[in-house]
Amino acid sequence: MTLDRSEQAIARAAADRAVPRHVAIIMDGNGRWAKARHLPRAAGHRKGMETVREVVRVAGELGISYLTLFGFSSENWKRPETEVKDLMGLLRLYLKREALDLHRQGVRLLVIGDRARLAADIQESLAEVETLTAANTSLTLIIALSYGGRAEIVHAAQRIAEDARDGALDPASLTEDAFAARLFTDGIPDPDLLIRTSGEQRISNFLLWQLAYTEFVFVDTLWPDFDRESLLSALGEYGRRERRYGAVSA
Ligand code: IPE
Ligand code: IPE
Ligand code: MG
Repeated sequence: MTLDRSEQAIARAAADRAVPRHVAIIMDGNGRWAKARHLPRAAGHRKGMETVREVVRVAGELGISYLTLFGFSSENWKRPETEVKDLMGLLRLYLKREALDLHRQGVRLLVIGDRARLAADIQESLAEVETLTAANTSLTLIIALSYGGRAEIVHAAQRIAEDARDGALDPASLTEDAFAARLFTDGIPDPDLLIRTSGEQRISNFLLWQLAYTEFVFVDTLWPDFDRESLLSALGEYGRRERRYGAVSA
């Protein structure tokens, strides 16, 4: 879907102000969207997948370089088996249906999280799409799957401890950059903007390290209802923020 003229104008205005290089989204509220319609939670997840397609497309058109979507948390494994199954089924469908489209749009797909916990066929599909799209340069789409921020930090700490044990690293000279290079997000700039939908105002174990200086925008819209206008409005809010990084404003 392309932007109409007025939206292009808004988009240009947003671009002039500051289109964030990296937007991260906690896509929340699928269950409540379904409940309000007396539908099963899976129907909310299905509609939420349509939102993902739309937001990826618009993010590319706006010139956002990195889009990170929280698709499934390490804590989401605690949900009823049927819901986990539904979500994994939708992930399979998304990969099958969208892979070529993403490639055509010039999107590069990256996955962060504990992918070893995912079913073997999903791991294979993810690896295939990552390989297919590896050289694309328009938008990097990072999907967090079986992802937990604390687990990621512990994983990085393990790798550092191993390097130190093997004599490859001097603990006293460990830098923040060297630590960050052991996270799943190595090479990806920190998010400029975090959006969480559905009115909840918490991080839920997402990107704990990377969000240190990110601007947060919380919106009441449920993820299945989030659209181009919602994204543009969040970008507008971001454009009005002053980022100081601990310094005194100019
Ligand atoms: C977000 O919607 C999707 C996932 C967390 C996988 P939810 O399923 O959390 O929806 P609510 O929060 O119950 O409404
Ligand atoms: C966070 O949403 C995880 C994803 C969006 C994938 P949750 O719905 O799982 O978070 P809580 O349980 O409300 O904190
Ligand atoms: Mg939720």
